[in-house]
Amino acid sequence: MNILIIGSGGREYAIGLRLKQDKNVKKLYFSPGNGATKELGTNIIAKDYYELADFAKKNDIALSVVGPENALSAGVVDIFKEKGLNIFGPTKAAAMLESSKTYMKDFLHKNGIRTARFLNTNNFDEASKFINTLGQIVVVKADGLCAGKGVIIAQSHDEAKKAALDMLSGDSFGDAGKSIVIEEFLDGFELSFFAICDGKSFVSLPVAQDHKRLLDNDEGPNTGGMGAYAPSPLASKELIKRVEQEVVAPTLAGMQKENAPFCGVLFVGLMIVNNIPYVLEFNVRFGDPECEVLMPLIDGNLSEILYDAATGKLIDITLKDDVAVGVVMASKNYPYDSTPKTKITIKDIPDGSHIAYAGVSEENGVLYSDGGRILVAVGVGKDIKEAHKKAYELVQNIDFDGSKFRKDIAYQALK
Ligand code: AMP
Ligand code: GLY
Repeated sequence: MNILIIGSGGREYAIGLRLKQDKNVKKLYFSPGNGATKELGTNIIAKDYYELADFAKKNDIALSVVGPENALSAGVVDIFKEKGLNIFGPTKAAAMLESSKTYMKDFLHKNGIRTARFLNTNNFDEASKFINTLGQIVVVKADGLCAGKGVIIAQSHDEAKKAALDMLSGDSFGDAGKSIVIEEFLDGFELSFFAICDGKSFVSLPVAQDHKRLLDNDEGPNTGGMGAYAPSPLASKELIKRVEQEVVAPTLAGMQKENAPFCGVLFVGLMIVNNIPYVLEFNVRFGDPECEVLMPLIDGNLSEILYDAATGKLIDITLKDDVAVGVVMASKNYPYDSTPKTKITIKDIPDGSHIAYAGVSEENGVLYSDGGRILVAVGVGKDIKEAHKKAYELVQNIDFDGSKFRKDIAYQALK
């Protein structure tokens, strides 16, 4: 079958790389793709999702796979489905689980799914009163999509009130902050839980751990993610079962009741406090860089798994008994500012490692760093130590001006 992957990051490259291994995948297309996806297939530029759907019709695309949240919340799935095309991802209505934090919190509350104590509001006095009932640290979240920047962990009530006021006035996040969530601070460790869903049922993927802060020891500003590994030994069998029963199953049942059955990847951002899973957030797509470490762990035909999920007949998934570690290499000014592009040099790609390319462009066969997160160096091994070693060996072989990466990816698993 011919497959179209929508997006341009390391996540979409990783999905493409994995799909290339399937015998039944004929042609791969990316839209818009990046400078390296050209090597895996063909990059397509379309004016909008209607034009892209027309392209899919004309080019015999059996399945489209959506990477980023923006495309989902813009309704790409609805547009493709109207034209009778198969597409893996949630509709605009189901993508509300990610695109509106107030919707998500109300949904969790309505369906009895455990989450931090919260208030949804667009009124400063209400926000202020609720903040007074919480502990010293308070979390303030803008309702809408803010590219991962709409969450403030305020260290005092004064700071929380200021953040709430800035959001509600539209100063900090425009319309995305006109509704906010005020939330109690949860102190635990975070896990990324992924389920492939067909609307009614689901299969779980290995539990991953992301590293959101820029610097070692989880210091510095938040980023899109500086590295990931899976499966995490912090996720016991019992914990996984609890998340499946107490979070994923009731979410799918709840979304059916909302007339917005959830098809696609449900990515549950969890905080584990005293061994109890709390939902921090839902994302409605693969995480990036989590996807880059999950793809090498899936056995069998990924195209069939995604096709069956997209068409409502979920099949079983087989997972490899491996561990994957991914180290993000980012550009000099990430996450603050853009960086001029520079040439990427790769000495060697040792066995058991590979690169998932993200912010790269290509000219005359030469790859340039051209974005924030440039690539993910992925190592796969029989255990965490081996995977970690391979990922960092690969990092040593990659060079571009001003490159930076964390040296402690997977530290929680290596302890
Ligand atoms: P979110 O986009 O809601 O996942 O928030 C981004 C990050 O903020 C999360 O990955 C956590 O590190 C942190 N965070 C969000 N909500 C809370 C909370 N209630 N307690 C502690 N940390 C939180
Ligand atoms: N790595 C976190 C995310 O993709 O949202």
